[in-house]
Amino acid sequence: MPLLAGLLKNVAEEYLSCHTPGHKQGQAALAEWRQLLGDQVFQMDLTELPGLDNLQDPQGIIKKAQESAADYFGAKETFFLVNGTTAGILAVLLAKSRPGSKVVLPRTSHQAVIHGIILSGAQPVYLPVRSHMGLGLPGHITAKDLKTCLAALDQDALVVLLHPNYYGLAGELRQQVLAANHHNYAVLVDEAHGAHFGTSTRFPLPALQAGADFAAQGAHKVLGSFTQSAFLHCQRKNGLEGIRAALRIVQSSSPSYLLMASLDVARCQCQLEEEGWEAAAQFGEKLRLEISRISGILAPGEELLEVPGVVEYDPTRIVINVRELGITGFEAAEWLRRERKVLVEMADFQNLVLILGPVSDEKAAEVLLEGLGSMAADCTTRSSAGRRFLPDPLQLDIPQQVITPREAFFAPHSLVPWESALGKTAAEVVAPYPPGVPVICPGERIQEEVLEFLQKWDAAGGIWPGKSRGLIKIVAGS
Ligand SMILES: Cc1ncc(COP(=O)(O)O)c(C=O)c1O
Repeated sequence: MPLLAGLLKNVAEEYLSCHTPGHKQGQAALAEWRQLLGDQVFQMDLTELPGLDNLQDPQGIIKKAQESAADYFGAKETFFLVNGTTAGILAVLLAKSRPGSKVVLPRTSHQAVIHGIILSGAQPVYLPVRSHMGLGLPGHITAKDLKTCLAALDQDALVVLLHPNYYGLAGELRQQVLAANHHNYAVLVDEAHGAHFGTSTRFPLPALQAGADFAAQGAHKVLGSFTQSAFLHCQRKNGLEGIRAALRIVQSSSPSYLLMASLDVARCQCQLEEEGWEAAAQFGEKLRLEISRISGILAPGEELLEVPGVVEYDPTRIVINVRELGITGFEAAEWLRRERKVLVEMADFQNLVLILGPVSDEKAAEVLLEGLGSMAADCTTRSSAGRRFLPDPLQLDIPQQVITPREAFFAPHSLVPWESALGKTAAEVVAPYPPGVPVICPGERIQEEVLEFLQKWDAAGGIWPGKSRGLIKIVAGS
């Protein structure tokens, strides 16, 4: 772990700290805060000092740590990200698309992709994603749809793919990358939830192995590095100047060494503990079966392959469908939090999503199974339990694009109540979070079904950034 070793060496040398950060390696920190976090945290929260390298042009320990990550993940070059997977996505969009160029992407892309399109000024070409209404799960675009779309393009494009989605579902990635290669189009894979895929063949094919040019991985989401830390892997070494320049725009010039060291450690841990992931995959399959034995609850396994466009899934991502209990996923999440102190990763109208790490925690599984069993019993005895079916968000039609996301973002705008937004042109991304998939993007005409969906999402207890404002930003005069 070259980066960690470099930090520890610096700490051991006991320099007098006359530099940033202002806590002076803990000497100037609030005593209680320092006691709470421990001395080491402050001592290792360093900056670009002699011997500690510089993320903007790494030549020393950061370079070595990035090279170790590239070797392990099978990249020619890996960049450490301190502003989440988002930074990697933004950088590739800035470097590989430009005003007026095309970006082909699934409609279920994360908001980071749309934000990158706002920055670059590109023109999005959305591909529809169908859902499985019974399971309430969004699927993936098909290779066939992508091929048809690419064949009809009249100019260069960047293809952005999602692998897996928030529910751990993966599509025909290899065929899709091949389709893009056929036209010489670069491919960025948003692999925010798939940094562990290389550890075992039980996981979907990692994006780089599928041939992607770029893979942005949220190491913090699954590998245990600190929140906000992520990787951007590149398939080739050449032609990365644009990426480097873009990363300087979207990343801090004072990146946290704690975050970067945590990436170094997470890579090492992943390498050392691949069997832990293998075991977790098996554990996940077993847990699904046990959960599905509870009456009224389904934790789909093989059933996930019936979701449109899905060909693989992550066994450590447990989707729990509670539709038959007559409650929403939001209500189930709240029940588990209140009654059993269990916090899940996300909830929606029908489902809960749980993320397992590389530990097969039998005790936690017992707590979960007992909790789900009690919740199911509770629902069955309550006479109010009646079946309700709420629409899946991701089955919404693709709205009419009036102007580009960038034009809408920079156009004069006004804030209007949701009730008066029908037919107006949106000037911001509206994305229920999680999963952070936009239901409306800047430049699109706001349709009735989007407003209805947001009302239902709100009524069910769902949130999105901007909801508390009660207003939506629209292009003035639209
Ligand atoms: C599919 C997907 N892509 C990108 C992101 C952004 O990742 P980060 O939060 O690491 O910036 C997320 C975050 O939830 C995500 O779910």
